[in-house]
Amino acid sequence: ERLALKAAFADKFAIGTALNLNQIYEKDSKAKALIESQFNTITAENCMKAMYLQPREGEFNFKDADRFVEYGEKHGMRLIGHTLIWHSQAPGWFFKDKEGKEVSKEVLIERMRKHIHTVLSRYKGRIKGWDVVNEAILDNGEWRQSKFYQIIGEDFVRLAFQFAHEADPDAELYYNDYSMFLEGRRKGVVSMVRKLQEKGGKIDGIGMQGHLNIDYPALSDFENSLLAFSALGVKVMITEMEISVLPAPKQTRGAEVSTRFTYNKQLDPYAKGLPKDKELLLGQRYKDFFALFLKHRDKIDRVTVWGVTDGDSWKNNWPVPGRRDYPLLFDRNYRPKSFVADIIDIATK
Ligand code: G3I
Repeated sequence: ERLALKAAFADKFAIGTALNLNQIYEKDSKAKALIESQFNTITAENCMKAMYLQPREGEFNFKDADRFVEYGEKHGMRLIGHTLIWHSQAPGWFFKDKEGKEVSKEVLIERMRKHIHTVLSRYKGRIKGWDVVNEAILDNGEWRQSKFYQIIGEDFVRLAFQFAHEADPDAELYYNDYSMFLEGRRKGVVSMVRKLQEKGGKIDGIGMQGHLNIDYPALSDFENSLLAFSALGVKVMITEMEISVLPAPKQTRGAEVSTRFTYNKQLDPYAKGLPKDKELLLGQRYKDFFALFLKHRDKIDRVTVWGVTDGDSWKNNWPVPGRRDYPLLFDRNYRPKSFVADIIDIATK
């Protein structure tokens, strides 16, 4: 009998998945079986985002997050909290006063402090690591003009890490972002993390979101960033991994590539099943990336795929409703794709 993913990678890095509400509440027995047999670390896909945890000022809703933590503990899994400070999914009230006017820097800092302290204190010693700040840097390396940045300035990153460290000194603290293989973002993130370290901030890891495509990006670009981040003396995590088989929409591509695609014409080109040649390409792509992760296993602490089966993936219905993608390791019938066995083989040989 073949090894499970988590067993195959046991002495290399942790191998994880994201859990949606259905899975957290164990409503889907087939997904549950895969989660428990294949993975040893789980990330909350949505339920720990600020708009769910604190929908109104001072009103915390921990029901789903508690359940996520209980589920993970019951199965001895490493728990990852996602995510504390993110421009998206931050509740609107965060940035406004009672009259609807934008809050001052002092007020926003206090709200950040209270949110982070309340959440981390609740799960102190139970969540191994937190995505403290998510997606603060743009493709070109400049700061994203988020409300956090506009109101507080770049110090919001240092403050977020400081508040998290105060609330749970033993928790690992991460910065997490997408398209980290781009030279601009690589440089921007390296410089941001260096500044944080120089000011005495505690950061334990950098999460490289793995929202990948079948033909993009180049492995060497991904590797360059992996090495640059590791050189900062932090752990590297591969987070949010999936490999889309569909053409990427324009905004995620360099200009010279983007014009080739009309992404919303065919919503489900593979409705009759992923053709053999596509599945081979997808498998090769997964194997190439896992081979890269194995090569750098001394630097990589965890690899997390963003969902269990194709049916779970956020890539469905994105960027237009009705689109269907096939980007994960297990198909919509909970069967491992043909190449999962090969990934296990390269891990164990
Ligand atoms: O639960 C509600 C449901 O009740 C409602 O009927 C439905 C209608 O829109 O929405 C459901 O909530 C959706 C939720 O996913 C659960 O499916 C939200 O609208 C939708 O915005 C949310 O999308 C999530 C997205 O982040 C935004 O938070 C995706 O599941 C999640 O995979 C995605 O993950 C992000 C990472 O957190 C950060 N990096 C990028 C990544 C991909 O966008």
